[in-house]
Amino acid sequence: MSASNIRSAVILIAVGIAGLFLLNLIQGNEYANPYRTYTIDASGFKSNGERIYFTATSDSGKPILASMGMMTMRGGTMSCYTCHGANGKGGSGRMMMWQFEAPDIRYSVLTTAGHGGHEEDEKPYTDDLIKRAVTRGLDSEGKALEQPMPVWQMADEDFTDLLAYLKILG
Ligand code: HEC
Repeated sequence: MSASNIRSAVILIAVGIAGLFLLNLIQGNEYANPYRTYTIDASGFKSNGERIYFTATSDSGKPILASMGMMTMRGGTMSCYTCHGANGKGGSGRMMMWQFEAPDIRYSVLTTAGHGGHEEDEKPYTDDLIKRAVTRGLDSEGKALEQPMPVWQMADEDFTDLLAYLKILG
C-alpha cells in the first residue's frame, strides 16, 4: 500500500470508530436517552430554555448544532440533559469504554469559585464566560474544555433562554 492509501485507510477507520462512539452515546448511555423518553414536542416544556436543555431544539426553529471533533450534530440527537442530567448536577457518563464525568452546571454552582469542585480555585463563571464555555469550549480561565463537551452553535436569544433555565435548575 502506498503512504496515501494507508493514510486514507487510517482516516476511514477513525471515522468509523467516531461513528460507533456516537451510536453508543445515542443508544447506550447511562443517562436516559432523549429519544426514548421524549418526542420532541414543544408543548411539553414550560419555556424555550427548558426545551433547549432537554432537546437542543428551539421554539424559533433556528438550528442548534453540537460539534465534537470533526462531527457536527443537529439538535435532537443529544442535549445538555444527555450528559449533565435532568437536574443539571452532572455525574458519570459512558461512551463505550470511555468513562467521563460531566460537571454540575447549575447557575449557582458555575458562578461560585471552584464550581463543581473539580478544580478547587477555578474562577467563578460570569454570564459571558458561561456563553464562551458553551459556544467556544473554554472554561472560566480560558482553558479548553475536554471532550465529550461539545462546542455549541445557537442563536444569541436561544443562549439567553438556556441561561435562564440554568438559573431555574439552581
Ligand atoms: C456529550 C456530553 C455533553 C453534552 C451533550 C453537554 N456537555 Fe457540557 N460538559 C461535558 C463534560 C464532560 C464537561 C467537562 C469538560 C472538562 O472538564 O474539561 C462539560 C462542561 C461543561 C461546562 C463547564 C463546567 C465547568 O465547571 O467548567 C458547561 C458550562 C457546560 N458543560 C454546559 C453545557 C450545556 C449548556 C450543554 C447543552 C447545550 C452541554 N454542556 C452539553 C459534557 C457534555
